[in-house]
Amino acid sequence: MSVGIFDSGLGGLTIWNAVTKRLPNLSVTYFGDNANAPYGVRTSEDVHSLTKKAVERMWEDVDLVVLACNTASAAALRRMQEAGVPEGKRVLGVFVPMIEALTERDWGDNSPPREVAVSQVALFATPATVASRAFQRELAFRAVGVDVEAQACGGVVDAIEDGDMILAEALVRSHVDALKRKMPHPQAAVLGCTHYPLVQDAFQAALGPDVKVFSQADIVAESLANYLDRRPQMAQGGAARMLTTGDPARVSDRATQFLRRPLTFEAVT
Ligand code: DGL
Repeated sequence: MSVGIFDSGLGGLTIWNAVTKRLPNLSVTYFGDNANAPYGVRTSEDVHSLTKKAVERMWEDVDLVVLACNTASAAALRRMQEAGVPEGKRVLGVFVPMIEALTERDWGDNSPPREVAVSQVALFATPATVASRAFQRELAFRAVGVDVEAQACGGVVDAIEDGDMILAEALVRSHVDALKRKMPHPQAAVLGCTHYPLVQDAFQAALGPDVKVFSQADIVAESLANYLDRRPQMAQGGAARMLTTGDPARVSDRATQFLRRPLTFEAVT
């Protein structure tokens, strides 16, 4: 079975791209719920039910699903894990690897929370992720004394899904301005939405060169490589498919434009 990467739409492709580069021999199936994107303006109940439905469909092709979507990770991951997944299946999120990188912890380091190098952190994420406070909760298990200022970046995902990068970048600048009014000098910025690496240069330019920007793609790819080293049976065989609930031709065009490599999606059946 191959490994599955799930997102509400195109954002998870940033994770998919890093994973396929880091693990070129791994079969990876991508699933974008483009027909229902964006998730970030939906209620937590809605995000949970859409994510659950998509992941249940993904079990037909894969044993391990990575929710390459912070909004789904925040609203659905814990609930899905607690309700139990089918025998032999696993579902993982993208928050924890990011927080481990921010707090310079090794995988699975369960020692008590401690002081870390950064104390002023800006979090940029969707309205639903910000409202969930999941990032702050996971961070509190690992670090003390970190001040997190969260900025809900309304509109950015819609603009990216529509391929309107000029609007997406203008919105990024205005969200960074809003954040800086609340926290003038963040030391680090977390891009807590997998769509945002597609406008990472705009975030870095607006934040300035002194702010370290943490983006999930390489962090999650490394953490997945680590996970699969310890569970090689989860990385065996399987087909590599690109699935969407949206219009495959439109999604293929956008995906090819974003990643600058030819990608062909098929409709989920
Ligand atoms: N890319 C997703 C995330 O990481 C969410 C986008 C959305 O559908 O709002 O949060």
